[in-house]
Amino acid sequence: MPDSRGAEPPDTTDLARLRSAASGCQGCPLYQDATQTVFGEGAAGAKVLVVGEQPGDKEDVAGEPFVGPAGKLLDRAFEEAGFDRGSLYVTNAVKHFKFKREGKRRIHQKPGRTEVVACRPWLLAELRAVRPDLVLLLGATAAQSLLGPKFRLTQHRGEPVEPPAELSELVPSAVATVHPSAVLRAPDRDEAYAAFVADVKAAGKLLG
Ligand code: URA
Repeated sequence: MPDSRGAEPPDTTDLARLRSAASGCQGCPLYQDATQTVFGEGAAGAKVLVVGEQPGDKEDVAGEPFVGPAGKLLDRAFEEAGFDRGSLYVTNAVKHFKFKREGKRRIHQKPGRTEVVACRPWLLAELRAVRPDLVLLLGATAAQSLLGPKFRLTQHRGEPVEPPAELSELVPSAVATVHPSAVLRAPDRDEAYAAFVADVKAAGKLLG
């Protein structure tokens, strides 16, 4: 029976080596049903590292993060907030798609704390490789993966947040906001989108 003993990344800051090692990760049972590991994308020197929750249906098939509807919204928001795509490294807290089948559909399931903790070594390895100036956390799963389970997004969205002491070198500054999927589901989507862009802009100001 596979367990959740956790990811064991190689000791390297070479993103290509990390990606290749992650493709065979069996650190938790999610690898069994997902199509593939979806590792982060972007340059090693990216100034901003963006963390989502987990790949969705489209990302699982494409093998790339944020290529579905949430990704399109994210691209638009980054453009509006004045971020250059080349300055971003985009990844997820959990690197396999967790879903349940309903007929032919695969329905997204929120990853549990065990899966988030099991996958966290990959996120830390990406942080060590990229060394961003700013980490933008999208949604509670991403925020709690780095900042701990007590972090409350509703209380701190859009503000600079203090990373735990052991991460202060890897995470010089961080901002958490809602996940783009929450914007897509919001009753007033325009209002939710405007608030999301405002958070992304506020995060950008920390870059100086
Ligand atoms: N949602 C996420 O959190 N990440 C993706 O890559 C796609 C959708």
